[in-house]
Amino acid sequence: MRVRRTIMRDTVVRAGALTRTYRNGAETVHACDGIDLDVPAGEFLVIRGRSGAGKTTLMSLISGLVRPTSGAVEVTGVDVGAASESRLVELRRTALAGIPQEFGLLDALTAAENVEVPLRLDAVSPKRRDRLVAEALDAVGLGGHGRQRPGELSGGQQQRVAIARALVRPSRVLLADEPTGSLDSATAATITDALHAYARTHGTAVLVTTHDPVVVARADRVLEMHDGRLRAA
Ligand SMILES: Nc1ncnc2c1ncn2[C@@H]1O[C@H](COP(=O)(O)OP(=O)(O)OP(=O)(O)O)[C@@H](O)[C@H]1O
Ligand SMILES: [Mg+2]
Repeated sequence: MRVRRTIMRDTVVRAGALTRTYRNGAETVHACDGIDLDVPAGEFLVIRGRSGAGKTTLMSLISGLVRPTSGAVEVTGVDVGAASESRLVELRRTALAGIPQEFGLLDALTAAENVEVPLRLDAVSPKRRDRLVAEALDAVGLGGHGRQRPGELSGGQQQRVAIARALVRPSRVLLADEPTGSLDSATAATITDALHAYARTHGTAVLVTTHDPVVVARADRVLEMHDGRLRAA
């Protein structure tokens, strides 16, 4: 018998029977309902689904912001659902980047200072920080806006600051929750190119939730989420 050789790429996100339920009064909502998912390094994976399908809940389970009701999720071998808060902080510092649906910017900091936060946590030198921040802001078309605070920026500009903050350094896994939701289609195309290039350059698994056909068109794989369940599109 011939043995077929396959090139195995590292699986950097692995979910098994991952479930999260919420109670809304008498009703139980199955926000994530028995999800099995393997994501290899370098994959640009798109998760599509209607509002309320469970996309943000899935992202939050992977990043450890929300704990599973049952099942498990691992990121680079770390059991995120069971990890201590300090282990999660360490994981986010070293391996996991995110672009939250609500951006998660710090209002008191300028755009450039927001983008700089992950580099400060990494103790990157000030000179190198300045260069990396400038490059990241340029890459999202915000070169001239570094000194403005989030409150002085449009929704789409704020979203791009959150994207620059994620792209400013390499990570093993990037979670991008509707990253083009506040952008026009031309800007969305530029951002999608930047996310795609990031996956290819660093071998990062990029998980993107979206309704945007521009993003879907660039996917290595598209999954459909419906009532907390995930299936091939
Ligand atoms: N903290 C919470 N408490 C109670 N119910 C919640 C909570 N978070 C989410 N849900 C419920 O879980 C389901 C999935 O929500 P989720 O935010 O994951 O959907 P989504 O696919 O991200 O939607 P959208 O496209 O609108 O962002 C919804 O029915 C929602 O009401
Ligand atoms: Mg959502």
